[in-house]
Amino acid sequence: MSSIQSEPQRYTVTAALPYANGPVHIGHLAGVYLPADIYVRYLRSAGRDVKFICGSDEHGVPITIRAQKEGVTPQQVVDKYHAIIRDSFADFGVSFDIYSRTSSQTHSEVASGFFKKLYEDGKFIEQTSQQYYDEKAEQFLADRYIVGTCPNCGNENAYGDQCEKCGSSLSPTELISPRSMLSGNQPVLRETKHWYLPLDQYEPWLREWIVEGHKSDWKANVYGQCKSWIDQGLQPRAVTRDLDWGVPVPVEGAEGKVLYVWFDAPIGYISATKDLLPDTWETYWKDSGSKLVHFIGKDNIVFHCIIFPAMLKAHGDYILPDNVPANEFLNLEGDKISTSRNWAVWLHEYLQEFPGKADVLRYVLCANAPENKDNDFTWKDFQARNNNELVANLGNFVNRAVVLTHKFFAGNVPAISGDLQAIDLEALAQLAEFPQRIGELIENYRFRDALNELMNLTRVGNKYLAETEPWKLIKTDEARTGTVLHVALQIAAGLVTLMEPFLPASAATLGEMLHLEKGTWQTAGRPNALAAGHPIGAAALLFDKIEDATVEAQVQKLLDTKKANELANAVVEPAKEDISFDEFGRMDLRVGTVVAAEKVAKTKKLLKLTVDTGLDQRTIVSGIAEHFIPEALVGQQVLVLLNLAPREIKGIQSQGMLLLAENADGSLLLMQPGQHVRPGSHVA
Ligand code: 2FM
Ligand code: ZN
Repeated sequence: MSSIQSEPQRYTVTAALPYANGPVHIGHLAGVYLPADIYVRYLRSAGRDVKFICGSDEHGVPITIRAQKEGVTPQQVVDKYHAIIRDSFADFGVSFDIYSRTSSQTHSEVASGFFKKLYEDGKFIEQTSQQYYDEKAEQFLADRYIVGTCPNCGNENAYGDQCEKCGSSLSPTELISPRSMLSGNQPVLRETKHWYLPLDQYEPWLREWIVEGHKSDWKANVYGQCKSWIDQGLQPRAVTRDLDWGVPVPVEGAEGKVLYVWFDAPIGYISATKDLLPDTWETYWKDSGSKLVHFIGKDNIVFHCIIFPAMLKAHGDYILPDNVPANEFLNLEGDKISTSRNWAVWLHEYLQEFPGKADVLRYVLCANAPENKDNDFTWKDFQARNNNELVANLGNFVNRAVVLTHKFFAGNVPAISGDLQAIDLEALAQLAEFPQRIGELIENYRFRDALNELMNLTRVGNKYLAETEPWKLIKTDEARTGTVLHVALQIAAGLVTLMEPFLPASAATLGEMLHLEKGTWQTAGRPNALAAGHPIGAAALLFDKIEDATVEAQVQKLLDTKKANELANAVVEPAKEDISFDEFGRMDLRVGTVVAAEKVAKTKKLLKLTVDTGLDQRTIVSGIAEHFIPEALVGQQVLVLLNLAPREIKGIQSQGMLLLAENADGSLLLMQPGQHVRPGSHVA
């Protein structure tokens, strides 16, 4: 990849519009919003003209399905989640210039206008075809309203547009044994008219633009996916649906039809820009001096690299994306993040449990970002990176420089005394190199490497202090100690600007500590950011240690989720073969009362129980020691199979068997009568 190319006049940076059908989690932040925010904060700091655009994607079937499940309207669903998502982003410092929504009036007008222009210019194919219809629900079954067996992998719950198990993209008629999500019924085929964007006609142009034009500057994962789509041959794609939630199709004869969510959502970037800049929005979308960058997750690649560009090209007035830096996926503790399985760290919950620590999560997610391959988030890694990198490295450096300046120089930046020594010059020379090095990495979408360089700067600072030892030097040479702290404080000052894209809240705290406004990227790293005599503020803790118990509680929370999922999904074993009434009648089932219980010596699982059966007091050995405390069983009524042939277990004669219910997680529960009954009562 090249380094800094000729500078565009302005940047239009978009981050994928999240569906407003649930809160956002660490996967969203790591994959899309954090890299986008780092990029934008850096550009702003470098003095570039940039607009950072996002909003909620409020149309589409996932939203209407959730509304139906919750018994509310789609508008109520999106109102609720739009607010939660917007606040989560704000709390994590994601610095959108606008966070809009696709249920807005502006969006409806812009999306409608876009469709109309393509329609009037004859860019669509109008086609009638047979599509699945639910006769009971009286509705066509678009996209996720239909499920069935995937023809590629056999997954019985593949959607009409995609199989989440094998990732293949599907059309509803490819599903084997399709069924309606609304009624569960088998749907019928019915004729319906739709408008299609003939992607096949754009294939030569897309090949030239992407395969030949962006081989070297788009990320390998993005380029590879696009090339394979194009190589497989593109088909016309329907851009309308038979639904009642969405932007109505603005042509005659299209009653009851709306724009396909993937047609209207990317236009949401344009309408959000118009909401932000009613008079000048067009410059950001139509002027060739504008650089358009889409930050997305890998599941959105085809829409942003093939379909949306084809729409923009068909329209004719718009610029095309310069880059689409899509990330791979983040897993959680070795498992795919999943909203339906609640296998996620939700951003709003994280902040309730780690108040004031948004930057810690930003740091960990960037350091471990799934830039080129899927990556795993673990709470152990989270703790280690916080304690070993943020606390012990960055925080420790800043803290030492600030505390020693207060201790030895009354909180004023000491002056340089005499000539700088080689070690000072070396530290300052290194400092001066970091802004460009970090900036170039950010401009090339290498955010992990950029963050690593930032941490290298703090390592330079720590090494400098470790080698000059100002805490010892003060005893023999106050003037030289002043020089050392002067140099160390210049490094700390550089950090205020250089860490801001990654750790904005901590950068602001550091700026307050040093009584220093954030400077521009170009001036960061200069050796005279803090003048001699400049008073600095008291040391404040930038980061603090995260204890074992804290992360263990998070791991336990996930284990509880896993257990709850297992219980919910447990498969009930099929019934055993029939038995005759006589066979059943031969079993003598009675109520008994436990009168004594003790563990069988040298075994883990066995309890020796004495049970009053009404007929006698007999011994029953039962393998339940891991589930019950012996004392707690005494006095309990139990159900007993009385006439099970006696057998010897560990030298004890066992006469009968206790009846227990086994839960899906393997836990055991006593079978008991609903109220106390006379021992010996029959169970029938
Ligand atoms: O995958 C998603 O969450 C989509 N809502 C992304 C839409 S991006 C854009 F096109 F708006
Ligand atoms: Zn499949």
